[in-house]
Amino acid sequence: MNTITTTLSLLLKEAFEACGYDGALGVVTKSDRPELCQFQCNGAMKGAKLYKLPPFKIAAAVTEKLADHPAFLKVEMAMPGFINLTLKNEYLTDYINKTAADPAKGMPQLLAGKKVLVDYGGPNVAKPLHIGHLRSAIIGESIKRISLAAGGDAFGDTHLGDWGLQMGLVITELRERHPDWRCFASDFDPEKDTVPPIDVKELNEVYPCASGKSKTDPEYSRVAHEVTAELQKKHPGYYALWKSFMEVSKADMKGIYDRLNVDFEYWYGESDAEDYVEELLALLEEKNLLEESEGARVVRVSREDDNAPMPPVIIKKSDNSNIYATTDLATMIQRRRLFDPDYVWYVVDKRQGLHFTQIFRAEKLAGILKEECACEHLGFGTMNGADGKPFKTRDGGVMQLNALLDTAYEKALASLDPAKFRDEEHRKEVADRLSVASVKFGDLINNRSKDYVFDFDRFLSCEGKTGAYLLYTVTRITSLLAKAQKEGAVIPESLDTAVALSPAEKELLLTLADVGEYFEQAVTERAPNYIAEAAYRIASAFSVFYHDDRILSEEDEAKRANRLALCRMTKEKMEFLTHLLGIETVDVM
Ligand code: ARG
Repeated sequence: MNTITTTLSLLLKEAFEACGYDGALGVVTKSDRPELCQFQCNGAMKGAKLYKLPPFKIAAAVTEKLADHPAFLKVEMAMPGFINLTLKNEYLTDYINKTAADPAKGMPQLLAGKKVLVDYGGPNVAKPLHIGHLRSAIIGESIKRISLAAGGDAFGDTHLGDWGLQMGLVITELRERHPDWRCFASDFDPEKDTVPPIDVKELNEVYPCASGKSKTDPEYSRVAHEVTAELQKKHPGYYALWKSFMEVSKADMKGIYDRLNVDFEYWYGESDAEDYVEELLALLEEKNLLEESEGARVVRVSREDDNAPMPPVIIKKSDNSNIYATTDLATMIQRRRLFDPDYVWYVVDKRQGLHFTQIFRAEKLAGILKEECACEHLGFGTMNGADGKPFKTRDGGVMQLNALLDTAYEKALASLDPAKFRDEEHRKEVADRLSVASVKFGDLINNRSKDYVFDFDRFLSCEGKTGAYLLYTVTRITSLLAKAQKEGAVIPESLDTAVALSPAEKELLLTLADVGEYFEQAVTERAPNYIAEAAYRIASAFSVFYHDDRILSEEDEAKRANRLALCRMTKEKMEFLTHLLGIETVDVM
């Protein structure tokens, strides 16, 4: 379905054309002055230059043409040539009914027929997930859901960090601790020998320990590099050990992503790119793009009009090892082969911007993905603590994701009055959803490229732009509808276009009609904050309606039924939007 402004623009287009003007002038936008009108068209101003006429002449002609149009209650010309539009209630109500009945919930299908690969999450095996990975997971999941709702064939791939030096460090450290393990013996046989089970706690502790040692002990570091190279050549013992701790690590990560309602269609990793590195080198060679530089093999990607230095992309280091860029480019070959996407969106910290500019340029030079495929780096800012510095634990360490979610959960639980719940189980489930909703909304309400301050107490407040406020609003509607049903009311599926509307109802309807506009922006800018904003606006408009108008106690039958239908539609729209944000609603709070 078209958004409301696109729908109205089509009406204005006809009117401009009927008056002999270019239909492209009939662009309708939301009103800058809501006290005067709901929508406006400034096309006459543009037309004035085109036709060398005073703008009011054009606006007056178009206004006259639309005077009896059934969509409009008022069409007015305002000097010097604005066209101010206010809809008839019937028209607005009918539009809302149509969006509710539409299988795509009235959202414009901007990505129909497009394959969208969202590269997000990006966790590193054996390293515990930390809050740096939180934003990628939250934002990426929402972008994927928004793309699906826009008709795209969207799917997520984690791009696991499972093949770099950190793997060598882990193996080196495990070997120091457990030299007797069969996988370290020179006669290890993957057919007969087994690798002992590795405990996830030990695994998560091994990496920081090894990483610390490698920084102070050059010999340790040398060995770790050697082990990494051996692993990459699939040394039987190391490879078996790697496979075993990969499973443990992945299961651990999945647990955390489940808590966050984050779900990847694919769990490919850097290790899977290994199979495509030879092909990448051959392709770069064939296109004459590889150059020798200080013993390394590089691709030059600078352009004449660059105003900042653009270093070449290193494909093979002088010791013949692969680096981050090699893996990312080889992964593009894999992705072309497996998916042939139209878009690849990388939801990664904006500080990695240079890396992505480099590899996207290299990709275009080599023609790895299909010509019309667009790669984009959807960068995000840092999550800061109250002091404005990157979020830390109390003792100054890196806060781990599970610990952060546990704290959020405890606080959410403490905020819930036990008397409101069926039992403790119920209360815990709500606390779980509330804590995740608060964390996610606190992030998603900000434009992704901005840094923001993580302030869980504020996120948990039922006032203001918070996840808690959204969930609370939904529970209000749920309990109201349940009460109505108990009293025997039938809640209509659509609004009655003939029933008179109160100002608060009209405002709520306009806010619901506006969702498509926010959605369009969210898709074109790949920015979930517009969805978060739209959900918040509906919650606020609903609160005014709930406060100003009688609903259950309304005596006029038709009005009462219509208000119940409006409650139902508001709830459905809010549930749709929270779903796009990856947030689950609750029944009581
Ligand atoms: N594992 C990386 C990190 O922790 C993020 C990977 C992002 N995706 C990519 N295709 N480079 O920084």
